[in-house]
Amino acid sequence: MAADRASYLRDLGITVWTRRGGSAAVVPAADADTAADPLSREATIATLDWPALEQTVRGCTACGLRAGCTQTVFGVGVRRAEWLIIGEAPGADEDKQGEPFVGRAGQLLNSMLTAIGLKREQVYIANILKCRPPNNREPKPEEAELCRPFLERQIALIRPKLILALGRIAAQNLLNTETPIGRLRGQVHQLGTIPVVVTYHPAYLLRSPGEKRKAWVDLQLAVRTLRGQGP
Ligand code: URA
Repeated sequence: MAADRASYLRDLGITVWTRRGGSAAVVPAADADTAADPLSREATIATLDWPALEQTVRGCTACGLRAGCTQTVFGVGVRRAEWLIIGEAPGADEDKQGEPFVGRAGQLLNSMLTAIGLKREQVYIANILKCRPPNNREPKPEEAELCRPFLERQIALIRPKLILALGRIAAQNLLNTETPIGRLRGQVHQLGTIPVVVTYHPAYLLRSPGEKRKAWVDLQLAVRTLRGQGP
């Protein structure tokens, strides 16, 4: 397990020093969909249980993205997880498999989780959008708005102890802000009573491996926050 952790940390770009003769040490581095009135749509979604929510998402055509994607990508993981990880939207791999973060970015996300002692199976993973935007373009504000009640209901059902927002789109939509990600990192935000920590999107980290060190700092902030040890 120690060897596993060291290899995941290396994957994250974190230098692992091995003490002579010792162990490794880390050096910093439904109906709802058809409701015409948006308020009644939101109110209806806010009452759904897991099966009804999943079914409603599957049948949703509210924003038009569903026509161009293979399937909806609802979310995956423990339905009472302490950690809720939120990304942007499904990409090609996720669209094909119906599960968030299963492509290269997903592999790096798995490594990031392993680095803080978590298995993918212990958390819940979802996205701002449930449907893949064409050519992986950014979600439009109106698409995010129409999809938001589904994510809000997931959050209400999961009641996570911490939300980790991956990337600018997730962070800005969740926190309802246009503040750049560089300024959203490094502090603990609140979504109602739930602490939110922001870090870079794994796809960005794959393109900019030099930023992995900052992501590691963010992950450590998230761990401390969840343990109640503050920023
Ligand atoms: N990127 C995301 O933001 N979400 C996914 O599910 C996959 C890639």
